[in-house]
Parts: sequence; structure tokens; C-alpha cells
Amino acid sequence: MKRREFLSSLWFIGLGLVAAAGAWTSWDLLRPGEAKGFGGKIRSLSPEAVNDTTVIEVPAARSYLTDVLDETRALSWKCPHLGCKVSFCDSSGEFECPCHGSVFNRAGDLLSGPSPRGLDEHPTEVAADGLIYIDTGVVVDGPPPGTETIDEPSKGPGCATESH
Ligand code: FES
Repeated sequence: MKRREFLSSLWFIGLGLVAAAGAWTSWDLLRPGEAKGFGGKIRSLSPEAVNDTTVIEVPAARSYLTDVLDETRALSWKCPHLGCKVSFCDSSGEFECPCHGSVFNRAGDLLSGPSPRGLDEHPTEVAADGLIYIDTGVVVDGPPPGTETIDEPSKGPGCATESH
């Protein structure tokens, strides 16, 4: 091989390496499902951990995971009224807003209080790693007042100090 051919080969090999590195970097930046914080897709739990008797708080997604009619739902913890964080009350089995007393059932339906709708949601998907990802970049408005997705009467007294 002549010197000129050898250098030409080196040039193309180098160019190929640069192209491969660029492609890898682009793919690494743009691949779906790898956002690291709120506003992206948040990796959470195995679907087996979520059922219709539990509500699991996922702080990184500012959401609660539960199972509603065999569907995994990620309910935003941000109250649609003025944005306070709702909490889940184990004794009643309902979400309660500490600010102005809105109450929501486990499916996020508005039961009482000044909230204009039920709890908003983030879409979920089970990825190739078998875990639930919560897409916090997408917010689906909660259901309008009067919606009854599930028929789960209050299990007992609420957790708020005020009656509702
Ligand atoms: S912020 Fe929740 S009821 Fe007002």
C-alpha cells in the first residue's frame, strides 16, 4: 500500500469514527423515556406493585399511582383549585386537599370542595425494562364535577381537621 492510499484510508476511518460518535451522542440525547426529572418520563415501579387497594406516592413525578378498573393511573398531587398538594387519607380512602378542603375519590373524581374538576393525570406506560414510566411532560385535565369513575364509598373518617 502506498503512503497516499494509507493516509486516505486513515482519513476515512477517522471520518467514520467521528460520524459514529456524533450519531451515538444524538441518540443518547434524544432517545425517549430517559428524562431524568419532573417534566420528563419518570421511572417508577413494577406494575405488580400497583393494585386497586393501594395508592403509592411517587415524589419524583409529583403523583400518586393506583389501579383503577385494571388500568394504572398516575394522578397529579397538584390540586386543580389553587395548586396545593393533595394527600391520600388511608382512613377514608380518599384524597384531601389541605388548603380549601376539596376531596377526591381514589380515581381522582371530585367529591366535594371548590376544585373545578377532578385530579389531573399523567400518562403511564410500561417500558422494555418492565417498569412503569410516568410522563410528567403531559398533563391530562381531571374529569368534570359529577364524574363517577368508580363506586368506592368513603371507608371512614377523613384525615383533615375540618369536616368536609
Ligand atoms: S387548593 Fe385545593 S381546594 Fe383549594
